[in-house]
Amino acid sequence: MAEKIIINDVGPRDGLQNQAQILTPAQRVQLIKALVAAGVRNIEVGAFVSPKAVPAMAGTDEVVAGLPKGDYEFSALIPNRRGYEMAKANGVGTVGLVVASSETMNQKNINMGTAQAVDVSRDVLEQSRVDGIRTQVYLATAWECPFEGAIATEQVVKLAVQLFAAGANEVVLADTIGAASPAEVKNLLKALDGAVDLRAVSCHFHDTRGMGVANVFAAVESGIRKFDASIGGLGGCPFAPGATGNVATEDVAVMLRQMGFETGLNLRGLVAAADLAAELTGNCDGGHSIRWIKRQIEMNRL
Ligand code: COA
Ligand code: ZN
Repeated sequence: MAEKIIINDVGPRDGLQNQAQILTPAQRVQLIKALVAAGVRNIEVGAFVSPKAVPAMAGTDEVVAGLPKGDYEFSALIPNRRGYEMAKANGVGTVGLVVASSETMNQKNINMGTAQAVDVSRDVLEQSRVDGIRTQVYLATAWECPFEGAIATEQVVKLAVQLFAAGANEVVLADTIGAASPAEVKNLLKALDGAVDLRAVSCHFHDTRGMGVANVFAAVESGIRKFDASIGGLGGCPFAPGATGNVATEDVAVMLRQMGFETGLNLRGLVAAADLAAELTGNCDGGHSIRWIKRQIEMNRL
């Protein structure tokens, strides 16, 4: 049987948080349902963050209330204890904390220093164990920070070790601005291997320099079996200048399928979801592979 790789679609959060066109909760649910129809089982559906900081994520409670029922892992991003309590009150099963690898990025993103961000995470991780809520911590700017430049590998290893020790179920290495190369991806994962359990590490790449899929490949070769990606390549961080969209879900799906991995995703459904994302946002070109997929569909080859 083919080996499995999980794709967590972060389009409804990372993809939408920076769009000029703010979607209604009902439209966000529509996009999530299109992803579910494409076979996506893991979806980051929104964020319980300050609506002043990220207006596009306001109404995440309404999105959560409208989610389809079933065997899905829906997660929400939270920056602090307040966000955690909101996620919990709304019945969210998985929360994503965020700690950047650099001091400046933490300040810009969540108005805290790195040490405070780790403390806030510790507190939430402790509570989430009591509550039975699954946790992942985004280690943002894990390779490069838009303000401080290259991040030392030891810094990322240190943070990952601390966060697992504090009880994180998963650590997501995030290349927030899409600056990593496949060689740097391999280097960091090599440094982490042994220090932490790589089976609990996933990767989140942006496609700013066109290396998103190459970075996924490097991480697969290093043993990673779970990836964030975003439908149609939607995305960008309002607090990280120059960041473009996440690596597109359909591009990752095409590569992994051709490599013989099982993702559970269907390409026809992904195209429909990417078309919907384009229609709703007016700003989604689709991944590099989308024209090829559409052509295959036209020729009845998929
Ligand atoms: N959800 C909703 N509102 C929140 C909140 C949360 N998790 N945490 C704080 N707030 C509200 C406060 O009640 C306060 O509201 P008010 O101005 O109406 O009184 C306001 O936000 C500011 O609160 P404060 O505690 O002073 O926070 P801050 O101004 O230092 O901002 C964060 C800190 C973390 C709340 C804010 O920077 C944030 O939401 N960042 C998220 C960034 C993000 O999503 N980045 C992209 C993903 S990596
Ligand atoms: Zn991101």
